[in-house]
Amino acid sequence: MLVKIKLPINIEINNFFTNKPYFIRDLADDSLYERLIPLIVKVCNEPRIFNRLFAKKFVKGATYRPINALEFLVYANRGWQKQEKFQFAIFNEDNDIVGTLELRSNDSKACEIGYWASENHRGIMSNAVIAIAKLAKSVGYEKLFLLIAPDNIASQKVAKNAGFLLENPHFENSKGVYQLYEKKL
Ligand SMILES: CC(C)(COP(=O)(O)OP(=O)(O)OC[C@H]1O[C@@H](n2cnc3c(N)ncnc32)[C@H](O)[C@@H]1OP(=O)(O)O)[C@@H](O)C(=O)NCCC(=O)NCCS
Repeated sequence: MLVKIKLPINIEINNFFTNKPYFIRDLADDSLYERLIPLIVKVCNEPRIFNRLFAKKFVKGATYRPINALEFLVYANRGWQKQEKFQFAIFNEDNDIVGTLELRSNDSKACEIGYWASENHRGIMSNAVIAIAKLAKSVGYEKLFLLIAPDNIASQKVAKNAGFLLENPHFENSKGVYQLYEKKL
């Protein structure tokens, strides 16, 4: 079955440490994009995100630029329009984007989830994944999975906190060797 998700999405979560509210929203609304671009650029240039997600793909010395954020938002918009992939952002109370999560397919049987969050907002991602798993179950997904690099301890903690189980510690694909975590919904 192909999953569909009705818009708009707005889910409140709390920071594990501060209890402050944060909001998970869809990234389908392109009227927000102009404001979001510099915010995304700022967070994606934070070392823990840039080094993990972009350093290998970018030429040496390059930084994450507004064009990269725009491409990301266009990708997010297309995913929602086609109902093929579902990209969400986490906003703080000031409406600044501090993280993202993605349901990477519309296949109800199994869907990969991906995410990043600002190091200035530790305490939101595990709770955001718990909330997205609840939403995923309500729209018909049966299973979520995560592919996590063996040295990505922070992401492994998120997986465990959100109730994912380590199904394969040496899962190999064309991009490398990962830990495969799964959560049945
Ligand atoms: C992976 C990533 C999102 C994790 O962010 P994070 O801020 O560490 O995640 P959380 O907010 O969930 O956790 C922060 C801390 O609070 C704890 N915590 C948060 N929510 C919790 C909960 N509900 N229950 C228990 N502990 C919780 C975590 O265990 C973690 O503990 P620590 O202090 O021992 O490290 C972040 O490191 C990142 O963006 N990395 C770069 C991109 C990336 O790796 N993406 C994933 C690719 S697979």
